[in-house]
Amino acid sequence: MSKNKVLIFDTTLRDGEQCPGASMNLREKLAVARQLSRLKVDVIEAGFPVISEGDFTAVQTISKQIKNAQIAGLARCVNKDIDAAGAALKPAGKRGRIHVFLATSKIHREHKLGKAQDQILKLAVDGVKRACKYVKDVEFSPEDGSRTEPDFLVEICRAVVKAGATTVNIPDTVGWAVPEQYGALIAHLHDNVSEFQTGEAIISVHCHNDLGLAVANSLAAVKAGARQVECTVNGIGERAGNAALEEIVMALQTRKDVFRGFSCGINSKEIVKASKLVARMSGLPVQRSKAIVGENAFAHSSGIHQDGILKKRETYEIMDPRAVGWGKTELPLTKHSGRAAVAARLKHLGFKLSTSDVAALFDHFKEIGDKKKFVYDEDLTALVEDILTMVPETWTLDYLNVSTGNQTVPTATVRLLKTNGKNRESEQDAGIGDGPVDAALKAIDRITHTKGKLMDYALRSVSQGKDAMGEVSVKVDFGDRKLVAGRGASTDIIEASARAYLNAVNRHLDTGGVQTKKTKRGKP
Ligand code: KIV
Ligand code: ZN
Repeated sequence: MSKNKVLIFDTTLRDGEQCPGASMNLREKLAVARQLSRLKVDVIEAGFPVISEGDFTAVQTISKQIKNAQIAGLARCVNKDIDAAGAALKPAGKRGRIHVFLATSKIHREHKLGKAQDQILKLAVDGVKRACKYVKDVEFSPEDGSRTEPDFLVEICRAVVKAGATTVNIPDTVGWAVPEQYGALIAHLHDNVSEFQTGEAIISVHCHNDLGLAVANSLAAVKAGARQVECTVNGIGERAGNAALEEIVMALQTRKDVFRGFSCGINSKEIVKASKLVARMSGLPVQRSKAIVGENAFAHSSGIHQDGILKKRETYEIMDPRAVGWGKTELPLTKHSGRAAVAARLKHLGFKLSTSDVAALFDHFKEIGDKKKFVYDEDLTALVEDILTMVPETWTLDYLNVSTGNQTVPTATVRLLKTNGKNRESEQDAGIGDGPVDAALKAIDRITHTKGKLMDYALRSVSQGKDAMGEVSVKVDFGDRKLVAGRGASTDIIEASARAYLNAVNRHLDTGGVQTKKTKRGKP
């Protein structure tokens, strides 16, 4: 590997997924992993195997299916964690990486772990040695590394590298660092651990965005000697998130004058697709003005700027939007397009669907084609993602009628089909609310005997035109302290809202959520 290659370690499926309400099911995780593989990230951190059966299966399945990246599984320095990671990563063979972590800062040692420096050192070394029994590729993270005493950090780095770690990641766990100081810390480690100079081991960085400095800190670290950056698509992650992959990659590519000689192997043309997919799969929409991937990132509204762009693009554009995958429009499909044309376009968009999924999608495609003149790639992508985010549908929307207006109490009548083994029963009820969406959701609550609190609601148009499909993403609290995401798309936004809410109800039930006891129906 070239001395100046910067490895991109993507943790969207682990740290990104830790973001409240962002949890994804296996199909969603696989779709994201496939897109990460098209992006050509070097490492995919696929989960924390000991934490749940879902994480274990995700790491195991991604290990089996993705062939062009290292697959990492997270583990504390605890035997059962490391053993679970080793087992989940088995199908990856040589591409498996165990990522062990243990807090090292004074505040964590004293208040969280109650352990002295020498005990921490021993636990770290034992953890790495155990991980080495399963895989050759072992990464160690001293959690809260940026707040750890620099000389203790040097001691830790030397010890874990000696024990077999080939990557030592220095997390800025709480987003406390600032670029100059974090860069100096990385340089200190680089200067004092000989294996970082010879390339026998590399320094990685993992920055959180609590002060909005995650990307700046990561880049400062690269200049100081780090050769792996941990990041997530759209910067999703715990609290204020992690360093955004697209920003790191494009900063390295666009400012080659500053990051002279550094390169990463990312296929930047896949960035926008990855961003849209992760936004939909995680239910975390991207803010319009977000760098690189926001809808406005390359939109110029001022006349002076537009004039400049027309004369020479580089006057106001530092990157070519096409370099990250914007603006590549294909001819839209119409209701006359046949199954083969739809299947070909899906393949072109990078989706790998089973024949039965294509058949189901084709039926939806025809419905949309009847309502809209053109079916754009974005519409098709939304339909595919509907299929990917599908969970066993305990409840399916069969009929929805709303009555609303400025002189009317908004009322919704909803009929749902309940799947019970092979049987399907229909149940109907009505609700009134503060608006038509509220009325429809109340009617759904009454039928399904769930009581969700809508914590977040976002509506966006999937494609262009007045007949564009609306896509609704919701986050719902069903009273068990975790947020459940749901999404739904339709040309009718009330229907899209009902579908999104129902998607969250079905997810809640699919993950063991309970319906409240059947109560006598009261007033709507
Ligand atoms: O932020 C952090 O410290 C982490 C570690 C597990 C690497 O996510
Ligand atoms: Zn983290």
